[in-house]
Amino acid sequence: MKIHHIAGQNSVLNKFLAEIRDVTIQKDRLRFRRNIERIGEILAYELSKSLPYKNIAVTTPLGEKNVAVNKANIVLCSVLRAGLPLHQGLLNYFDDAENSFISAYRHHKNGGEVFEIIVEYLASPSLENKTLILADPMLATGQSLVSTFEALKSMGKPEEIHLVSVVGAREGIDYVNKHFPGNTHLWIADIDPELNQRGYIVPGLGDAGDLAYGMKKQS
Ligand code: URA
Repeated sequence: MKIHHIAGQNSVLNKFLAEIRDVTIQKDRLRFRRNIERIGEILAYELSKSLPYKNIAVTTPLGEKNVAVNKANIVLCSVLRAGLPLHQGLLNYFDDAENSFISAYRHHKNGGEVFEIIVEYLASPSLENKTLILADPMLATGQSLVSTFEALKSMGKPEEIHLVSVVGAREGIDYVNKHFPGNTHLWIADIDPELNQRGYIVPGLGDAGDLAYGMKKQS
């Protein structure tokens, strides 16, 4: 897997990452969602440099200009619900992409620390020979990306796979690396050192779904 760690180089991205991590600023849900969306836009821009391009002739009021435009058939797939603002950021740039949504959540057995990933809902076009961009904002254990990829296999075999995340832990990246095809790309804004006992990224930012949309009642 080719890992693109975007915050490895200083840019405006650092400010958006600082704001989503900051325990005070992140309480503003509108700002939190918008910052994740802005990070999605930056990741889309970086990812776009690796796509295949074709030349088209554009007629301007004064003449003609050859422009190289993306020729990949992109399907953007996001994991509900935390993935929604990241999805919007990617879609702002890949505006003609097809879209796919999948739900995945952690089910803690008897309220303990051990959990399994439950995948329940999938709405997707065919992925056959397409460019799949699979977005999950928090790459913690990597299990939700691997479980959603398993479920997506019934939709066909994509030609290229790009994973997109905002913050990831080393352990989860290693797990994903073992379970995805070798030519997969991972576009990740920032990488943190570890997970806590409940599988949360440390220092991370907390629960991205709750920060974006509010707390959920435990079922
Ligand atoms: N999901 C989150 O929202 N945060 C984490 O740290 C891990 C998984």
